[in-house]
Amino acid sequence: MSGTEGAAARATATVPVPVPAHGRAAGVTVRVPAKVNVQLAVGGARPDGFHDLANVFLAVSLFDEVTATPAAELKITCEGPDADQVPLDRTNLAARAAELLAARHGLSPDVHLHIKKDIPVAGGMAGGSADGAGALLACDRLWGLDSPRADLLDICAELGSDVPFSLVGGAALGVGRGERLTELPVSGTFHWVFAVADGGLSTPAVYGAFDRLNDGVDVPEPVASPALLEALRTGDTAALAATLMNDLQPAAVFLRPSLTDVLEAGTKAGALAALVSGSGPTTAFLVQDAASADAVAAALIASGTCRTARAATSPAPGAAVLA
Ligand code: C5P
Repeated sequence: MSGTEGAAARATATVPVPVPAHGRAAGVTVRVPAKVNVQLAVGGARPDGFHDLANVFLAVSLFDEVTATPAAELKITCEGPDADQVPLDRTNLAARAAELLAARHGLSPDVHLHIKKDIPVAGGMAGGSADGAGALLACDRLWGLDSPRADLLDICAELGSDVPFSLVGGAALGVGRGERLTELPVSGTFHWVFAVADGGLSTPAVYGAFDRLNDGVDVPEPVASPALLEALRTGDTAALAATLMNDLQPAAVFLRPSLTDVLEAGTKAGALAALVSGSGPTTAFLVQDAASADAVAAALIASGTCRTARAATSPAPGAAVLA
């Protein structure tokens, strides 16, 4: 079957999504958090090119909002300071989420997805994954599907390694390529500052640099740190600061050496610990309280080593429909 015939077969197998009885474009808005990896332990490259991880995710209070409304065809729009860097075609995880969900139910993905973007783009804070999870939940509710959580998590895992966590939020350990989650107990409030860099870093490029830097090294199996899990459970900021770790940091710094200056500026300004967030180039600074967060953010901005700095707290809830 040719590609065109395949597309035609798929088109006849789908039906239009239900139109609301009152005929108005009723929308569903979902709010989704960013994440920081408080531990990102990376194993050697697998035969499929991915890496096994012990990935401790913590959701933070920077949010994107995705609004789904009925439309004649799939359309993505985006607003926010970095909106010009967001792809509006079908490579956007929000579009792929709508397509995957619709395909599962024999629907055609006729929906307008509007993304209100506040999470740094290509920054290692799972902004794209957040939009995928948000679009999935918004379309699920808009189309009246009310899918079981397990089905939504399945689709999330198909969309990307970080997408299931965007749905779940809170704190969780991700194993496999990071998509197999176990929720973690977390108490108290952790205060953070995030230094946003100019321009993103490609996640595959950072994993590629990790492989090159570890060429010939027997990379150990990734395991979660018991001391770090205990720090989350007890809400102990000092203990968390002592145990933060990111195996991708050397690779991100190798590709973007100026990150060293940002990390130093935040540490000098009084952060308890500093690390690259996920695959970067956003850097994360754990601080004692809200007042320190404001001081460290101001010092980072004044240092000129980053584009801007944002204070946030964790844990934050996962994807949620707004009333
Ligand atoms: O799963 P996701 O699409 O977010 O992954 C993007 C890329 O990051 C993958 O194509 C791969 O290069 C890299 N990756 C990896 N190991 C993981 C997760 C991601 O090598 N566990």
